[in-house]
Amino acid sequence: MNILFIHIKELLQTRDKSEVKMMGKSMSELPHIKNAFLRIKGDTIHSYGSMSSLVIKATDKVIDITGKIILPTWCDSHSHVVYTGDRSQEFVDRINGLSYENIAAKGGGILNSAQTLQDTSESDLYKQSIERVNDLIKLGTGALEIKSGYGLSTEAELKMLRVIKKIKEDSAVKIKATFLGAHAIPNKYKNNKKGYIDLIINQMLPKIHQEQLADFIDVFCEKGYFSLKDTSQVLQAATKYGLIPKIHVNQFNAFGGVALGVKHKALSVDHLEVLNEEDIAVLKNTETMPVALPGCSFFLGIPYTPARDLIDSGLPLAIATDFNPGSAPSGNMNFIVSLACIKMNMTPEEAINAATINGAFAMNISEDYGSICVGKKASLIVTKDLTSYRQIPYYFGNNPIYKVMINGELID
Ligand code: NIG
Ligand code: FE
Repeated sequence: MNILFIHIKELLQTRDKSEVKMMGKSMSELPHIKNAFLRIKGDTIHSYGSMSSLVIKATDKVIDITGKIILPTWCDSHSHVVYTGDRSQEFVDRINGLSYENIAAKGGGILNSAQTLQDTSESDLYKQSIERVNDLIKLGTGALEIKSGYGLSTEAELKMLRVIKKIKEDSAVKIKATFLGAHAIPNKYKNNKKGYIDLIINQMLPKIHQEQLADFIDVFCEKGYFSLKDTSQVLQAATKYGLIPKIHVNQFNAFGGVALGVKHKALSVDHLEVLNEEDIAVLKNTETMPVALPGCSFFLGIPYTPARDLIDSGLPLAIATDFNPGSAPSGNMNFIVSLACIKMNMTPEEAINAATINGAFAMNISEDYGSICVGKKASLIVTKDLTSYRQIPYYFGNNPIYKVMINGELID
């Protein structure tokens, strides 16, 4: 039996498989078919087109969705969704005047989350995290990158990565795992950063490799965290094990992290709230995807990634949630698409490209996700009745979703 959606008001993001990322002016194009059909066979997109060209088959199970729009599920290429405990006290501290940096300097922030995580069992961590992932699916996320980095000891980093691996096995959505041991310097190594980097390189990485726990390597390259030299060392060691770099750079300070990422052939460079001309220049003619995290800018009240400068200079841009308990406690990609339009001056077409096809590129999953394409996975958002896809970002904070399909299965 095939599932056949008919009378789709707009079928969005219909593309050839050869189109793997949108950049510059091409980001403003969002190909779509009005009054369309879409046929799903098993977990795969079988065919699509205009209703006028449809021939219904005996094996089709027809679903009429007059008034509704279909687009590929969101590809959220940057999250820290495996964590435990919340940091609402720090949220209140910030309301009362402390900065994110002040809080971290007092031993809060990432170290606060690491302490709680070390005291939580693997099964408990899994239970809390998979619940969050299930909530995200209902909000339209069909592919998700998840980072470690709240362990900061060999045992706790492995615990996080094993939880991510189990989510990968159990969840219907596509999961990619990133090792972010170099997220902060744990208290034990406060005066011995070199010792912690040695631990990452000589102890954590070999074990992660042995258990095949990660796809990507990440480092928080920032003042007070890991320098260019530290970052380079970790990336070099990890790439020997086949891990591909995706790094946190230019969140608070610009000091060459983007160029370093490009030098190490990073799949993506993420955050980029503080970006200078050299950073933009160095990204040109590379395969590195810039990723903006507007939920973090919104929550911390820091600058937004200058999307217009990036796109207008011909570069691609992806957007992701950064879902984490400290700087962005929301994994709602619909809101991220709204923020991209409202706060970063991206058009709805650019924001939707950034959250689908470019997000898939930033996770190396363009083969199966990110567009409506024959042969790709049938992971789809069916919207409520909307006049046009522009209403997705326009109605910020609303849930535009009627149903989500993951790999050919409608989610309840
Ligand atoms: O991407 N900037 C570094 N890491 C996370 C925040 C981590 C935290 O505060 O818990 C981020 O914003
Ligand atoms: Fe992050």
